[in-house]
Amino acid sequence: MIDHSRIKVWLACLGMSVSAVHSASAQQAAINLDFAYFMNEVQPVFLVKRNNNVRCIQCHTRSSAFRLQPLEGGALFWSEEQSRLNYASASAFVVPGADPLESRLLTHPLALDAGGDPFHGGGKHFASQSDPEWRIIADWVAGRTSRRTPTKFVTRIVQTNAAGSDSYVIDPASNQVVGIIDDIEIPHGITSAPDGSQLYISNESRHSLDVVDSRTLKVKRRIQLSGRPNNVAVSKDGSKVYVAIMEMPGSVDIIDTATMTNIKTLPVDGAIHNVYVTPDGRHAVAGSIHTRTINVIDTTTDELVWKLAMGAGIRPMTFDTHPDGSTKNIYVQLSGFHGFVVIDFVKRAEIARVEHPPIAGQEAHRDGLQGAPAHGLAVSPNGQTLWSTSKVYSHVYVHSLPDLTEVGRVFVGQHPEWITFTPDGKFAYIGAAGDNATYVVDTKKLQAVARIAVGQVPKRVGTVLMAVD
Ligand code: HEC
Repeated sequence: MIDHSRIKVWLACLGMSVSAVHSASAQQAAINLDFAYFMNEVQPVFLVKRNNNVRCIQCHTRSSAFRLQPLEGGALFWSEEQSRLNYASASAFVVPGADPLESRLLTHPLALDAGGDPFHGGGKHFASQSDPEWRIIADWVAGRTSRRTPTKFVTRIVQTNAAGSDSYVIDPASNQVVGIIDDIEIPHGITSAPDGSQLYISNESRHSLDVVDSRTLKVKRRIQLSGRPNNVAVSKDGSKVYVAIMEMPGSVDIIDTATMTNIKTLPVDGAIHNVYVTPDGRHAVAGSIHTRTINVIDTTTDELVWKLAMGAGIRPMTFDTHPDGSTKNIYVQLSGFHGFVVIDFVKRAEIARVEHPPIAGQEAHRDGLQGAPAHGLAVSPNGQTLWSTSKVYSHVYVHSLPDLTEVGRVFVGQHPEWITFTPDGKFAYIGAAGDNATYVVDTKKLQAVARIAVGQVPKRVGTVLMAVD
């Protein structure tokens, strides 16, 4: 039996590709379609899950003329060889240097009223020509070899939802949710490139480090990890991301951000829950709940340089500094302990322990603590206060530094978890896992000033710089 519709589509495609190749060669001398830009910037668009759309790759590995190589064996991205085949196929559907609306790769997924063509079997993915993903492809067709230089930077608070596939992007100026990063099921840690170009979110369901483009808020790349990740930290210069691998016997994966590759799985003592880079950038500090060990890594050599065993599992940590910027203390919350412990970084020894007292009239929660009655700890940007959340009493306790005197407490919802500050230190953002909300606390008045509805079980929260245009 002859499938006429298939043949018609095939002929249409053939006609299209011949004419595209034709005009392409006419323009060839002037415009070159850059391969690296195609591989690293354009290809991710074919993998993105957009709302109410199917990913391009779901259809285009098969019958149509625009042909993408299948990703096999759980591969998260195409090899260079596969990318060259994708490049050749995509090139046949563009007219380099011409009006973008002459390129089928651009008109097919673009809405009709935005200049797209009437029908695409894969639907319309972009509502306008100013869509940042559409512009990435248009820039490639126009002959660009790299992303446009960013012109606009903003500070954002990103709240990941531990039981969601979405992370909320909050504008701290308005306390409104201004974007949602979806398609990362069980997002764990969040950090960002110091230049604002991209965010890094560890993905517990796929065992990957997901790189999110700041301008599109879409996953640009997923980098395979050696096991199930927990938290992440970025090196001071942005060249490396450290990922805690929550599997025994224990390791930290080190990602090179220039090549987007996992360059090292460093063995450490115990499955790692959280990893941090110290404020001076010299060390990465990784804590294990299982072996109750703090592992200190030299970020120059990426070797384990010392470790410290504690009496209980290592939960969140934070740091303060000596006047020269070097690390002074590690503050750490421990499994089963309602408070925090202070460790002198140079002496490599515990020097103080502070237990949070009960709060009169506040109901104590003992359910669902997951072994950590206090699980959120941060030194304020000016180094003068230490903030520690209590899941038991639904408050954040604030202590002055270095004397460790309690200066106040603020109700911050049910099961408050992580804490982050605006860069000027005026506001603290705390994920209240039991309330599906992020609380905003005025750090001077010590009062909650906003409660922002977010997704399911918000825990890790981070302050990031983002290039948005
Ligand atoms: C649900 C399946 C599906 C998805 C998803 C899809 N397409 Fe298509 N696409 C098709 C089909 C079927 C055709 C052929 C019929 C037509 O031209 O509409 C096609 C045609 C095309 C063509 C013309 C060349 C050809 O192969 O016929 C281009 C270019 C194209 N798609 C680009 C894309 C891009 C870019 C995306 C993602 C942004 C995408 N498509 C997503 C099904 C899909």
